[in-house]
Amino acid sequence: MKILVTGGAGFIGSAVVRQAVAQGHHVVNLDALTYAACLANVASVADSPLYAFEEADICDRTTVDRILARHRPDAIMHLAAESHVDRSIDGPGTFIQTNITGTYTLLEAARSYWDAQGKPDSFRFHHISTDEVYGSLGAEGQFTETTPYDPRSPYSASKAASDHLVRAWAETYGLPVVLTNCSNNYGPYHFPEKLIPVVILNALHGKPIPVYGKGENVRDWLYVEDHADALLTVLTRGELGRSYNIGGENEARNIDLVTMICALLDQHRPDAAPHADLITYVTDRPGHDLRYAIDPTRISTELGWRPSVTLEEGLAKTVAWYLDNPDWWQPLLDRDGVGARLGKA
Ligand SMILES: NC(=O)c1ccc[n+]([C@@H]2O[C@H](COP(=O)([O-])OP(=O)(O)OC[C@H]3O[C@@H](n4cnc5c(N)ncnc54)[C@H](O)[C@@H]3O)[C@@H](O)[C@H]2O)c1
Repeated sequence: MKILVTGGAGFIGSAVVRQAVAQGHHVVNLDALTYAACLANVASVADSPLYAFEEADICDRTTVDRILARHRPDAIMHLAAESHVDRSIDGPGTFIQTNITGTYTLLEAARSYWDAQGKPDSFRFHHISTDEVYGSLGAEGQFTETTPYDPRSPYSASKAASDHLVRAWAETYGLPVVLTNCSNNYGPYHFPEKLIPVVILNALHGKPIPVYGKGENVRDWLYVEDHADALLTVLTRGELGRSYNIGGENEARNIDLVTMICALLDQHRPDAAPHADLITYVTDRPGHDLRYAIDPTRISTELGWRPSVTLEEGLAKTVAWYLDNPDWWQPLLDRDGVGARLGKA
């Protein structure tokens, strides 16, 4: 299959690109190379005859049309987005532009490309979204695919809007779509403004480890390689028009997650133990959702997919990867906004 992956120089998109090429798919990586992108993430496949890169903005219809006509993909996996909640609080405009207008532009380009191909049933537009569209849970319950949308941040509202557009294009124009909503990802190549890399890198540098509020927010952590595997499963075997929630079956409170990472670093760097002494509670994010949890019944029963690693295993791999790859993360620490406290409103 030839797959056009948008956002393939980002964290999750690059895992999809690497895994799709490893499975023998042709991949065209379309990415605007924003502050969050890193072509080093796909260096391992850059010379593969199965791989091509196109620097382009999904909001630029003419260029997207040209790329579709040139490469003639069988499927589009749409991951390009502004993805950091704290940045969406400080500057929602780019989230509206990329996540909503960009998705609209890509849908229209996909629709006219699909029309021109004779509307093949086999075509797929796979929209990758987040569990944050469902809002915040209390201590009990899990998100299912029928949980009503209740987004509470500019980021999640923009992703919810994009999900609605994708469903509308399927219902109105018959575009063959599948959708996925996943929980928080972590793993190698995670950009160093997100919680887990911030914890690892601040601890390594002996800097305070910021924990928002009381650290009681709960997330369901999904290892990025498992997520990429789930996405390719849904793309190739998911039912047309259906959405699938993808979770890691790994719920943890932020403070427990941070403590686990500190314990792993204590093993690797005993001279600097205990790293947990660096934990510092900071003002909470406004509107910080308390708990997300995914009910994975649909993807596990219908497609037989389950995560392959526990949180303990995935964190051990992740910490080891950051210790082994300073050449990857060091230059990213100088990018705009990285290391600053964003999103206080
Ligand atoms: N990271 C998570 O935990 C998580 C959880 C749920 C859902 N998601 C979703 O998964 C997708 C990928 O997330 P990620 O964490 O890899 O994001 P990321 O921020 O690491 O990467 C996003 C990529 O999209 C590219 N991009 C941004 N704007 C673009 C534009 N206008 N045109 C073309 N490319 C553009 C960037 O250059 C970057 O390479 C997003 O849609 C996000 O909403 C992420």
